[in-house]
Amino acid sequence: MSRIIIFTGKGGVGKTMISSAHALSSASEGKKTLLVSTDMAHNLGDFLEMKIGSDIIHVNEYLDAAELDPDKIMREDFPDFMRAWQGMLSSSGVKPSEQDQFTVIPGMESLFSLMKITQIEESGVYDRIIVDCAPTGETLSMLKLPELLSWYLEKFFPVGRVAFRILNPVTKTFLKVEMPDKDAMYDAEKIYVELTKVQDLLKDDSRTTVRLVCTPEKMVVEETKRSFMYLNLYHYHVDGIYINRIIPELEDNEFFLKWYKIQQDYIAELEHVFAGIPTMKLRWYPNEVKGINALDQFCDENLKKEELPEIFSVRGGGQNESYTRCGDGYCLSVGIPFADSDSIDVKCHDMDLTIQAGTQVRVIPLPYTLKGCIVKSTEYEDGKLKIMLAAGKEGFRI
Ligand SMILES: Nc1ncnc2c1ncn2[C@@H]1O[C@H](COP(=O)(O)OP(=O)(O)OP(=O)(O)O)[C@@H](O)[C@H]1O
Ligand SMILES: [Mg+2]
Repeated sequence: MSRIIIFTGKGGVGKTMISSAHALSSASEGKKTLLVSTDMAHNLGDFLEMKIGSDIIHVNEYLDAAELDPDKIMREDFPDFMRAWQGMLSSSGVKPSEQDQFTVIPGMESLFSLMKITQIEESGVYDRIIVDCAPTGETLSMLKLPELLSWYLEKFFPVGRVAFRILNPVTKTFLKVEMPDKDAMYDAEKIYVELTKVQDLLKDDSRTTVRLVCTPEKMVVEETKRSFMYLNLYHYHVDGIYINRIIPELEDNEFFLKWYKIQQDYIAELEHVFAGIPTMKLRWYPNEVKGINALDQFCDENLKKEELPEIFSVRGGGQNESYTRCGDGYCLSVGIPFADSDSIDVKCHDMDLTIQAGTQVRVIPLPYTLKGCIVKSTEYEDGKLKIMLAAGKEGFRI
């Protein structure tokens, strides 16, 4: 099993530099490491000053790297998935041309990067996989895709638990809904299995975590808090905050002294709001950090050998979602730190609970026991949303 660390943050804050430094340090420990970029605007090669393409290359004995190309992965690694996807779409009456079959769901091609990472992880070659991501917006869209797509599949193609019943002509007559035909069902199931594998890997907080890179300035601090909230909402475990580009205190330079003070206030705010999450402060170097040699020096100063095991371990953790019995009903608790309580809206519909927080929506499929339940009340405190669920007309299911 590989340890996976995903780096994201606002554009230009230092994601590629910090993820590359982690990969290099990891390899220096003799751990087989893959540094992989999912950013469509790849710059890993520019940064390491070597040619890196979509195929995995050796950087040194223990370090490999690749800039993932979703189109190529789709064609070469997952032709069956593609056939299944096309089959499923045409059975639902959608007939997209070859080129725009994914425009049905914007940004869907990035799913192939996640599927490739899952496939690489399954190969068992790497101890650690370090992922350099695109800026937060795109990364959040990518990270929520597997869950979102699985949810759609469950809705329109009752896959998984009930699939065997649907495929059985006898039980089919007892089900009052019109089921998709057997081939479409089979296609949907194949896709569902792939999506489940990706989700199992990414949401396993004993091996996959997300780390947020930021700089100490207003807009970035705000975006980092929002990203943290959304990542929690989507059930990703964030176990590190990197505050980059900190300017040194230059007493004799009024311009920099002003900036120094501004930055110090934001650093204090970041340390306060992210108390409990390991934070690393990184100074602003007088020259661009670029290429393996500069990166080696950066690692010596910031990612010290004796601290490495701790740096790569999963820090903190614990359950993000939990159900408890309370009174006649159930209480579902979901961690959504820094949310504005006025922007939270919760609705329940049959087997789904929809949580809207700011601009993001997550649909949580409910356990069967809670089918048809109603939202009695909600309470938001200390970054936790507590949703009190009461039995609907038909009571709780057994
Ligand atoms: N602390 C620092 N000191 C000096 N230079 C830095 C520092 N952090 C980042 N840089 C430089 O800033 C540039 C941008 O960094 P990097 O490419 O890592 O950012 P990024 O977040 O990956 O950007 P993008 O969103 O475009 O992918 C790089 O040339 C890098 O060397
Ligand atoms: Mg980058």
